Amino acid sequence: LPLLAPALLVGQVLGQTHDISRDDHAWAPAGPGDFRGPCPMMNTLANHGFIQRDGRNITRENAVNGLRDGLNFNPTLSNIMFDQAIIANPEPNATYFTLDQLNKHNLLEHDASLSRSDAYFGNNHVFNQTVFDETRKWWQGPIITASMLANSKVARQLSSKAFNPTYVFTLVTEEFSLGEVVAPVIAFGDTENVIVNRTLVEYFFENERLPTELGWTRREDAVSLETILHATDTIRNATRLYTEPINSLSKRKLGRNPHFG
Ligand code: HEM
Ligand code: MG
Repeated sequence: LPLLAPALLVGQVLGQTHDISRDDHAWAPAGPGDFRGPCPMMNTLANHGFIQRDGRNITRENAVNGLRDGLNFNPTLSNIMFDQAIIANPEPNATYFTLDQLNKHNLLEHDASLSRSDAYFGNNHVFNQTVFDETRKWWQGPIITASMLANSKVARQLSSKAFNPTYVFTLVTEEFSLGEVVAPVIAFGDTENVIVNRTLVEYFFENERLPTELGWTRREDAVSLETILHATDTIRNATRLYTEPINSLSKRKLGRNPHFG
């Protein structure tokens, strides 16, 4: 006990209610004063204490360790993700971000999310069952495929484009969005074939909890940037609404267009 006392004291001085160095990774929802954001996985890692349970001051080291311990992400990948995330903290030369800083609309947070409402309609960061039901309507069958994930992404975008007069979705957003849409496969599924069990994904989104009690375990092979790029490209291809192979236009002569030719 005397050895632990300094850490606990420091925690009390900083107003922290949880001591991360002694964390058992049991799931607990955010308490009053804890920060959460628009990312279901960062919220989940906080709920398990893989990053700070209070969602505050997530340093590079915290992110790299949390993504390794929780999901077996390799450090190179996690460092890249941290580099992309640190702009969320508006301070110059910031060394950490907090989960609520991720909420800033059209910085990292964007329209047409799978499980959150557009900022125009209200809260852009709390899980929204109505929005998520719209998304999972496209996940037909017990195994979610790349095609189904792509369909849910495109459907959410079409819905936002049609009904949100402030809809914004840039090419940068597209890249982030593809990564987010494939993320459940990276965490819980088969990254090679880009498929994942629907029950695991629904449980994760709805509870912000790792689906351990459904039999999921952290993957044994580390996730790398290459893993993500392969899976992301599969989703990107699956978002096309025409059925021919890519590049078929350049590979054959087209007949005259019957309408405008
Ligand atoms: C969404 C940040 C890691 C899964 C988001 C969003 C942000 C974000 C800002 C909101 C985008 C939107 O408007 O929908 C981060 C940061 C990470 C991180 C800073 C680490 C440094 C991860 C990981 C996974 C993940 C490791 C899972 C493997 C997701 C998913 C969404 C999302 C599924 C989409 C949620 C939705 O569309 O409703 N993330 N994320 N994230 N993130 Fe993360
Ligand atoms: Mg959003």
